[in-house]
Amino acid sequence: MAFYNGARVVALLLLVSTAARAAGDGLLLNGNFEYQPNKSQMNGTRVMAEYAIPYWKITGFVEYISSGQKQSDMLLTVPEGAHAVRLGNEASIQQQISVTRVMYYSITFSAARTCAQSEKLNVSVAPGPESGELPIQTVYTSSGWDSYAWAFKAKRGLVSLIIHNHGEDDDPACGPLIDSVAIKTLYPPQATQSNMLKNGDFEEGPYMFPNAPWGVMVPPISEDDHSPLPGWMVMSDTKAVKCVDSAHYAVPHGARAVELVSGLETALMQEVRTVPGRSYRLEFSVGDAGDGCLGSMQVKGYAGQGCTTVTYNSQGTGGHTRASLEFAAVADTTRVVFVSSTYTTKWDGTLCGPVVDDASLVCVSQQQPPARRLLRL
Ligand SMILES: *[C@@H]1O[C@H](CO)[C@@H](O)[C@H](O)[C@H]1NC(C)=O
Ligand SMILES: *[C@@H]1O[C@H](CO)[C@@H](O)[C@H](O)[C@H]1NC(C)=O
Ligand SMILES: *[C@@H]1O[C@H](CO)[C@@H](O)[C@H](O)[C@H]1NC(C)=O
Repeated sequence: MAFYNGARVVALLLLVSTAARAAGDGLLLNGNFEYQPNKSQMNGTRVMAEYAIPYWKITGFVEYISSGQKQSDMLLTVPEGAHAVRLGNEASIQQQISVTRVMYYSITFSAARTCAQSEKLNVSVAPGPESGELPIQTVYTSSGWDSYAWAFKAKRGLVSLIIHNHGEDDDPACGPLIDSVAIKTLYPPQATQSNMLKNGDFEEGPYMFPNAPWGVMVPPISEDDHSPLPGWMVMSDTKAVKCVDSAHYAVPHGARAVELVSGLETALMQEVRTVPGRSYRLEFSVGDAGDGCLGSMQVKGYAGQGCTTVTYNSQGTGGHTRASLEFAAVADTTRVVFVSSTYTTKWDGTLCGPVVDDASLVCVSQQQPPARRLLRL
C-alpha cells in the first residue's frame, strides 16, 4: 500500500465499489446471447471474429444458433429468448466480470448436448487457478436443456469467466449448446450451536432463473468451500443433484431443497467436526418435489457409523416425512451423507427422485465439566 498515493487509493476504492455493483445477481451482459453478431462477421452460423458477439470473446469454432434452426433432422430449441451458441472442439466463450475479491460466486448456465456422446465442459476463471470439469452427458430434462452450477472464489476484482469445450468429436457441429449465463454472490452459511451442518436447509445455492421451472443441476464437487451448494459436496463420477425452488416445486422447508435424481450414483455429503465419544442427533426431511415423481422412494442418511433408511411413498404432489438418527462420533470429523437408493423416472422418462431438506445436526451428550476432562488427561 505504501506505493499508492492518495489519489490512487481513492481510485481503487471507487473501483471496488463499482465492481461490487456490477456483480449483481442475474444474467451476465448479453448472457442470453440475444444481442447478435453483425452478419459481416459470420459465415453461415459460424462466428468469424473474436469480439463479434457483443460483450463476449470467443476462440475456436463457435456457432451462433437461432431457435428453430435445423441440424440434420434435429430441430434446435433455445431455452431463453431466440439465440444460443454452440462450442465446437477446443472452442470457448469468455467474458470479463467485475467481482469483489475474496467473495464466492456461483455461475449458472444452461447447456444442451447435441450429437457427441460423453460431453464435458471446462469452466474456469482467469486469473486462475480455479477450474472445473462439468460432465453434461446425462440429460435431466425432456427439452434436452439443463442448467448447471459452478462456483469460484474471486482472487481479483476483475476476472474472466471461460466456458471451454475440450471436445474430441470428428464433427465440430456436435459440440454443446450454451445459453443463459448468470452469476450470483454466495454467502456461505457457517455452522452454529443449533445446527452443526452448514447450509443444512439448502437455502444458499446457485442462481436459479425465475422463468426456468427445471431446477439447477449441481455436478460432482469434492471441495465444500467452492461448492455452488455451500457446505455440501456432491460425490459422483458424472451425475448431479438438482436444486429445486419453492417457486416451481414443492419444498419441505424454506425456499429451496435438493432432489436426489440419480439414485446410488450420487451422494450428498458434508464433513462436520465432532468429538469422539459424544452423541449427536441428525434430523432431516425426505419428501417429493411435487413434480410428478411417483412411487416408493428410499433415502439413506449416514452419520459416522450410524445409518437410517427413510422410506417415502410419493404421490408426486409434494409432502414430506421427518427422519432422525442418533449416533456416537468415532472421529473428530464425521461425514453426513444422503443417498437415494432408488432410481425413479417421470412419465417423460427423465430422472427424478426424493428431495432432502432441512437437515440439522446437534450434540446431545451432556457437556463434560472441563475439570474432569483435565483430570482424565
Ligand atoms: C456491420 O458491419 C458492416 C460492415 O463492416 C458495417 O458497415 C455496419 O455498420 C455494421 N453494423 C452494425 C450494426 O454494427
Ligand atoms: C464460409 O464457409 C464455407 C463453407 O465452410 C467456405 O467454403 C467459405 O470459404 C467460407 N467463407 C469465408 C469468407 O470464410
Ligand atoms: C480447464 O481449462 C483450464 C484453462 O484452459 C485449464 O487450465 C484446466 O486445467 C482445465 N481443467 C480441467 C479440469 O481440465
